[in-house]
Amino acid sequence: MRIRRAGQGEAGPAVELARKLGLDYPGMDADELWVAEEAGRVVGLVALKTHPDCRELCALGVDPAHRGKGAAKALVEALVAAAPGDVHLATVSPAFFESCGFEAVTGDVPATFPAKRETDWCEGCRRELCTVMRLKAT
Ligand SMILES: CC(C)(COP(=O)(O)OP(=O)(O)OC[C@H]1O[C@@H](n2cnc3c(N)ncnc32)[C@H](O)[C@@H]1OP(=O)(O)O)[C@@H](O)C(=O)NCCC(=O)NCCS
Repeated sequence: MRIRRAGQGEAGPAVELARKLGLDYPGMDADELWVAEEAGRVVGLVALKTHPDCRELCALGVDPAHRGKGAAKALVEALVAAAPGDVHLATVSPAFFESCGFEAVTGDVPATFPAKRETDWCEGCRRELCTVMRLKAT
């Protein structure tokens, strides 16, 4: 499996996979996207969205046929290795991200991090389970 940053004009297959997995959002094709490829096909993705005072990891997803092989962890590791500074995220699966080094954030969420429970993105999620997490820059 190959992990790489999608180049300009290459967002199509990643956005298509995100749509299949219900992880796509408006403007996704303009964000920094990382993909996992198997035999030249995109089988996993993760996005990094830039807000005025923080960066947000979002849309982590792996094609069901390719799960359990470390793709998600490799995508997160590649993205954070290339992203200087802290990375935030909101998730209903905190255990997975804890295993990647993220910690739950309580009081000090950056001002421009999207208010959890208030975005279209959150529709369908159990909002009471939503956890904001941060990986601190080393
Ligand atoms: C969650 C998801 C991205 C995991 O993809 P994956 O490629 O199967 O994950 P990996 O193989 O990299 O797993 C890495 C580790 O996390 C663990 N893990 C995987 N999914 C997990 C979950 N939902 N909760 C807790 N741990 C999880 C694995 O057991 C593995 O542990 P190990 O390193 O001790 O063996 C995938 O199941 C998916 O696309 N789900 C739907 C979308 C989603 O829920 N996105 C993330 C939430 S915001």
